[in-house]
Amino acid sequence: MEKSGSVIQGSANRRTFLKNGMVAAGAATVGAGLLGREVSAFDQEDEKSGKLTRGDAAILRFLAAAEILETDLWVQYNELGGIQDSEVPGGSGSPPYTAALQVLDSDMPQYIHDNTEDEFTHENFINAYLASKGADIVDLEEFRTLQGSAATGASGKPRLTNLMELTVDTSWWTRYRSRTKNPDFGDTFPQAIPSLAVGKHPAIPRTNADLTPNDHIQAIANTAGFHFGTIEQGGTSLYPSLAQRVTSVEVLRIVLSIGPTEAMHFQTWQDKAGNAPPLTDPKDPTLVFPNLNAPPFGKTNVGSFGIMPEPTIFLSRSLPVCSIVRPTGTKGAAMGAAKFLTAMGLFRGQSPAFLAALRDLAEDADDARRECERRDG
Ligand SMILES: [Fe+2]
Ligand SMILES: [Fe+2]
Repeated sequence: MEKSGSVIQGSANRRTFLKNGMVAAGAATVGAGLLGREVSAFDQEDEKSGKLTRGDAAILRFLAAAEILETDLWVQYNELGGIQDSEVPGGSGSPPYTAALQVLDSDMPQYIHDNTEDEFTHENFINAYLASKGADIVDLEEFRTLQGSAATGASGKPRLTNLMELTVDTSWWTRYRSRTKNPDFGDTFPQAIPSLAVGKHPAIPRTNADLTPNDHIQAIANTAGFHFGTIEQGGTSLYPSLAQRVTSVEVLRIVLSIGPTEAMHFQTWQDKAGNAPPLTDPKDPTLVFPNLNAPPFGKTNVGSFGIMPEPTIFLSRSLPVCSIVRPTGTKGAAMGAAKFLTAMGLFRGQSPAFLAALRDLAEDADDARRECERRDG
């Protein structure tokens, strides 16, 4: 499908974030030391000769970008609140922040570490697979320009994502607890933490001034606890949504094998978020964490214990309810994910070129169509 250049702004600088896969395959580390060159993502013959359909390559590239961004944000969490080791290097930890996270679960540093490593492997695998097929890979290093946390324990390196001005959508809490509604039917859901869904909130200490008083750093840790769930439920929906556009059985296997690990993350974080202690942030009294086991929550399955997905309507109201991931609609799924990440403030401070790059990748992924006649192998 040809695209009109007028649809996309900044076309002169488009595609600098794509790197030639044949070059990347020979690099010691994908994304490092590449001989970047301008490439045309719309050259179908190039993609075909790499044995991926253009649609499959576009889906994998959007997922690679999403995983690069996930890795970047998880690295920031791990530097301050995880476990810094050879598997996930960087930073030296913030004991007050880590202690506040451990109020949610004493194993939080290990979980943060493991989630971070998982995202590294998702990013590296997808890009390496693209390169192995001779397809272009995604490299967002040119957009690594944001200043991260200045608190003790952070590495201070430039970031792709901003965890210090988040607007966290916590409606997944009620979405997965509803027996009668589904976002794919146009339904909307109330927020678990209404005050997190408006304004700008830090999920990591911005400076050492954020480490006290106790309820303030706890509010930051609580924000992180809900943000973990928000991010990972997004991945839980994104993979099955895009899988419906995949042509190659091998690419389908990749998408179906990574996607459920996002659900495993989400399930863990959903359980931990329910342990966030009720409080009001003393440095921002508009930020209130309510008791999720008291009204209006605390009813059947809506409380902190309701972590298994409630069955709900699926495909048709005339069919029986079913326990499912939601949403999984495929139309506009990649752009929906890009907008979701942008709306949470993850890219506050990023350049227009970055947002254009993300939009380009999402548009290409959403243009993918399943080619049913194609045979693999
Ligand atoms: Fe991931
Ligand atoms: Fe994830």
